[in-house]
Amino acid sequence: MRIGILTGGGDCPGLNAVIRAVVVTARLRHDDDTVGFLDGWKGAVENHRRPLTVDDCRDILSQGGTVLGTSRTNPFATEGGPETLRANLADAGIDAVVAVGGEDTLGVAHKLGDLGISVVGVPKTIDNDLSATDVTFGFDTAVQTATEAIDRLRTTAESHHRVIVCEVMGRHAGWIATHAGIAGGAAEILIPEVPFDVAAVCGRLQRRHAGGLFSSVVVVSEGALPAEGEELETARRSASSAATDQFGHARLGGIGGWLADEIERRTGFEARATTLGHIQRGGTPTAFDRVLATRFGVEAVRAVHDGDFDKMVALRGTAIVRVPLAEAVAQAKTVDLDLYRDVAGMFLG
Ligand code: F6P
Repeated sequence: MRIGILTGGGDCPGLNAVIRAVVVTARLRHDDDTVGFLDGWKGAVENHRRPLTVDDCRDILSQGGTVLGTSRTNPFATEGGPETLRANLADAGIDAVVAVGGEDTLGVAHKLGDLGISVVGVPKTIDNDLSATDVTFGFDTAVQTATEAIDRLRTTAESHHRVIVCEVMGRHAGWIATHAGIAGGAAEILIPEVPFDVAAVCGRLQRRHAGGLFSSVVVVSEGALPAEGEELETARRSASSAATDQFGHARLGGIGGWLADEIERRTGFEARATTLGHIQRGGTPTAFDRVLATRFGVEAVRAVHDGDFDKMVALRGTAIVRVPLAEAVAQAKTVDLDLYRDVAGMFLG
């Protein structure tokens, strides 16, 4: 067999661990060849590919990023894109494709399945917002990175008696904010799922500071916005670009700065903002993410050999299972509000 593999969407710690697991499992268990398509679906459309050997995978397990490169290319956004892609796969003698990505990359994988292309998906995203899997690889590393940043922000906030707003990634879902905020003991955790009330946030910070705590770290997801009201439009303008990518997503970033200014204006507390941005995506994966990514890669090759296509490998409890791709991409997995309110809310203020 000849298996194609590609990594699409935002990069993510653990991508190389999946590539290594697929290449090594394919070769050692089945004597299969593996071909890497470069820069996600772009490489499949433009026929940029290279053979991947076991030797190529030495020392990549612990490397961040992806040795195959990535992009946010959507083959369905270009006239004739899917047909060209199918011809390129045939030209390369590909029997099946392992697509490693988030909702966009796997959404394309599912549509290609409808066109008769054999695809198995592997769930990736630091945002952890893919349905049908308990967790995606990359999330644990991002939470660890964000937590370490919050710990550092706390000591400078305490020294200067400031409010520091820490903006983390999370477009539709506040998983990173919730987990890193709990782990870092944030004073406030603001997520896209629960529009916030700026006046209420400021009121809680004032009570907290009046109670003798002269500093606070506020964690906010990049996709969080105030509830309907006069602030909503100015916040929205500060936090997203007008331009969109091929999947229709605006570029986010800026809500932290907007919120810090509002807090300072309304409370008189000196406030600063830090945006963690791509620091959360770069660097070496945690042991948890390396293990999960490796298990996903091994199972993806097993699915290819079972002819079990249009499926995504997933973690359910402690087991690796296969779920329909349609289920994975149907809707974003948002934060469990019981966790948010009961666990996070208990320690806030
Ligand atoms: O990987 C997902 C994500 O981290 C989102 O949270 C974020 O909005 C987006 O990527 C930013 O990606 P880029 O800057 O690469 O377009």
